[in-house]
This record gives sequence, C-alpha cells and structure tokens, in this order.
Amino acid sequence: MSATLPPVTPAAHLSEAVAVAAERRWAWIVMAIIAVLVLMMIVTGLHWASMPPSRVETVDVKTLHVQGEFMENKLGTTMGTDGKVTVRLIAQQYSFVPQCIVVPADMPVTFRGTATDAIHGFIVGRTNVNTMLIPGFVSTFTTTFPRAGEQLMPCHEYCGTGHEAMWARVQVLPAAEFIARARGGERLSCVPG
Ligand code: CUA
Repeated sequence: MSATLPPVTPAAHLSEAVAVAAERRWAWIVMAIIAVLVLMMIVTGLHWASMPPSRVETVDVKTLHVQGEFMENKLGTTMGTDGKVTVRLIAQQYSFVPQCIVVPADMPVTFRGTATDAIHGFIVGRTNVNTMLIPGFVSTFTTTFPRAGEQLMPCHEYCGTGHEAMWARVQVLPAAEFIARARGGERLSCVPG
C-alpha cells in the first residue's frame, strides 16, 4: 500500500521559489562575510608582520625554576658573541620577570618566554610584538624596534583577578648604547636595584 502525496498546488510552487531565493541570498551574504574576514587576516598579517610560531618547543613547568634557560639568573636580555639579542622572560600571576626589559633599537630582538601557572600573553606598545605565553610551551617572537624610548607591555590574556594590574616596561635603547652595555656578555634588565 503506497502513501498518496498531496497534489502540488501553484501556491506550494511559489513558496518554494521564495524559500530558494532567500537561501541563495543568505548564502551570498555568508560568503561575503567569510571573504571580508579572510581579507582582514591577510591585510593585518602583512601590515603588522604577525607570524605564527615557527615550531613547537616544550618546557617542563615543574623544573623551570631549577634548570634550563628560564632559571631566575638567566632571565633578562643577553647579546651573544654573534651579536644576537635574546630576551628571556616568564609570566606568572600577576607579573612578568623581569619587570623591566632592556632592548636595542634597530637590531633584531628575539623574545623567548613561557608561563608558570596560567595562560598569559603580552603586547609591547604600538609594535608588532604580540604573543601568548602558555605553561609547558616556549613562545618565540623576533622583531626590530624602530626607535628608542619606553614602551608598556601589558598582559593581554585574561589570567585571573589580578590580570589588569599585570604589566612590564620595555626600555628601547639606541643600538650603540645597548651594545656598549651588553658587550660584557652579562644579562641586562632595567629592574631598579
Ligand atoms: Cu597575565 Cu593577564
């Protein structure tokens, strides 16, 4: 025994045509929104020279403070014998170590950072420095500061009740002054005392 379908009336045809037209219009609107978002990603990515991390590096949160490059006496800025400038820092609720970071202008600077407790992150003033700091992972970012001066470096990932008070300062020195101070090979920071 087969079910009999209701007869197709002209009204049913019409409402189907209206539905198809509406669906098609929405499909175009959604595609346009996706196109605008992709374009925004491309433009801001190129304009700010944002870049994804080049590779995944991990670090053991439990031994961070007793061994390896993130021990307290290794944090801060160093210049290698090859002239490479590296900033090592950690983020914790609710501060960065060091609290004041010295970098040169007009020279490539590589940040290497991680977090000890929660997800943090930082940006530096109006530069393209922008990265997350995640427990167990090493975040790296290389940039060149165009001019000397002081920049603020706030935490930009909500990390708890003290989030809005979590920030550091970045002192950008003229390249010659920085090189003169860093030549000895010791690590630099501008934390008073
Ligand atoms: Cu650390 Cu927000």
